[in-house]
Amino acid sequence: MERQSISNQFIYGGDYNSEQWLDRPDILARDLEMMQKARINTVTLGVFSWSTLEPEEGVFRLEWLKEMVDNLYAHGIRVILATPSGARPRWLAEKYPEVLRVRENRVRSLYGERHNHCYTSPVYRQKVRIINQKLAQTFKDHPAVILWHISNEYSGECHCPLCQAAFRRWLKQRYQTIDALNHAWWTTFWSHTYTSFDQVESPSTLGDSGLHGLSLDWMRFVTAQTTDFMCEEIRALRQAGATQPVTTNFMEDYIGLNYYELAREIDVVSWDSYPLWRYQSDSRTALNTGMQHDMMRTMKHAPFLLMESSPSSLNWQPVSKLKKPGLLLNASLHAVAHGADSVQYFQIRQGRGGFEKFHGAVIDHYGGEDTRVFREATQTGQALQALACVAGSQVSAQAAVLWDTESRWAMERARGPRNEGLFYHEAVFKSYQALRKCRLNVDLVQVEQPLDGYRLVVVPMLYMFRAGIEERLRQFVQNGGTLVMTYWSGIVNESDLCHLGGTPHGLTDLLGLRSEEIDALCTGEVHHFTAGPGAPLYTCRNLCDLVRLQGAQPLMTYTDDFYKGYPALTVHSYGKGTAYYLCTDAEEAFYNDFYREMVSRTDLSPILPHLPEGLEVSSRQDPENEYIFVQNFTDEAIALPAPADAALLFGDFSEGKVQGCSTVVFRQKRS
Ligand code: GAL
Repeated sequence: MERQSISNQFIYGGDYNSEQWLDRPDILARDLEMMQKARINTVTLGVFSWSTLEPEEGVFRLEWLKEMVDNLYAHGIRVILATPSGARPRWLAEKYPEVLRVRENRVRSLYGERHNHCYTSPVYRQKVRIINQKLAQTFKDHPAVILWHISNEYSGECHCPLCQAAFRRWLKQRYQTIDALNHAWWTTFWSHTYTSFDQVESPSTLGDSGLHGLSLDWMRFVTAQTTDFMCEEIRALRQAGATQPVTTNFMEDYIGLNYYELAREIDVVSWDSYPLWRYQSDSRTALNTGMQHDMMRTMKHAPFLLMESSPSSLNWQPVSKLKKPGLLLNASLHAVAHGADSVQYFQIRQGRGGFEKFHGAVIDHYGGEDTRVFREATQTGQALQALACVAGSQVSAQAAVLWDTESRWAMERARGPRNEGLFYHEAVFKSYQALRKCRLNVDLVQVEQPLDGYRLVVVPMLYMFRAGIEERLRQFVQNGGTLVMTYWSGIVNESDLCHLGGTPHGLTDLLGLRSEEIDALCTGEVHHFTAGPGAPLYTCRNLCDLVRLQGAQPLMTYTDDFYKGYPALTVHSYGKGTAYYLCTDAEEAFYNDFYREMVSRTDLSPILPHLPEGLEVSSRQDPENEYIFVQNFTDEAIALPAPADAALLFGDFSEGKVQGCSTVVFRQKRS
């Protein structure tokens, strides 16, 4: 395990919107002192600074930023420098209306908000290139600048004539002939046959929104166009001589883009994490957030950056709850436990006006150090210093859950088998959370990523088989791996055309069964399944796959309706491995029991032999050590058998307990 990091310590800081305070040098000076006190070592500058950097077309004012960067550096604070394309100046939209987005109803947006720009517009690309190059020329050799933050949370789509033309070019490149496109999109249906690429229009509720091949390719195009735009931003920096690594900040499992595609083009993955703490049990919120962290880490199998999080409350959710005492540190270390090499906030200082004036910040409107949030932010900074040896270490996982954005796009747009929701995210989460409760690190792999090295691969609702995934799953099981596949897998090919000849496509022999029919339950309707009399009876919802066995053994069967007695869970040996098939959307208790038993019977080796209810465990490794993070998101102290041969590296472990809402970290020498 190599150490891989852009820094030999944790990056600690966040977005510092200093352009809002240029008329208050007293405040800017005070901020520096407070940042030092809080142990902040890095800030992100310039995310929304374009109109301050270029107040008029071609008139550049970078001196204030240069002074700011110099000053920060003199105070021992480094900089992540953003390109400002996330929000454009008013003059730009006024002079060149083509930079504004056209919505799916073909109406162009007015100037306003942010992220409201066309990724195809040559003018927008040119203006972004110019400002990026100015920034790169000024900061390429600045020792403070450690990373470029490309734009902000790329998202959304534009349906303007320029994007339509680009979409047609993209399709021509993909299909070469209109006949190939017609076949892939099955356009004979409802007489939608195209005779020329020029007839293609992006999906719209005014036109085609039910041509699934079109919708799927549009989502792919939006990802490709956004990626292309991002690459052009990066190229501008490189051409001007900047050599620092680049990142762009992602948002959870945002469905509008296939992040795995963007991740290929950047050096470090980063994301903005805003969980709804204190809405439900924080232990559950932590599990959900952990899945997002793991997804970000798996994109590059390397430490990621927590680019944004709130030091206290948010302001854009229905109600803005505060983080209770201790939660800031606990949630920050949770990101670290899952592989983050940074803890960063939105925002360092709270603005006085605008949309985010009530969003939490390290320094609030009061402006003093004697606040709970500032105190806790300082403790978090101190904790990261104490844990510096962990920065750059890796996470190694024996279990992987497959996540596929393209399958999700396709299945959620399809009509049938359940238009009231298929619950893809939930299906992935159910397996994920159960594996985490089994004390395992878990990767969230995408279909293109290698599977060797894992002992268990879980494939929930992989509706679309593409990129040769069937063959790789076959090899995986053949070589001794354990596969768990669920209902609604292997239904369509990469064009969203249904596979002929039986599903899950290409794997019926491996699974020892064929899916014959799938029943959908109404919302609220519940069925059951069990291993037999005396065994637990589990509930299931939404979808019930009716399979015909062709060699697999039924382990559990349905107990309701006309398919009472049909298999609900099966197992089949193949090569040196084993393949399970789960036919239905089971309740969480099933997953917990199923994986618990699997772990006790297979070569999966959990991080700890035992973990009391209410605790979470994760681990990171470097060549010499394993760092074991045990986290408690409940309010009660929980006793924990100390890991054998491990020394306490961090946290309050008095009386052998992990205190309520806290983290302990152990260091264990690797053998
Ligand atoms: C993020 C965004 C930040 C800020 C933050 C507030 O999505 O990147 O600029 O708006 O949300 O929570």
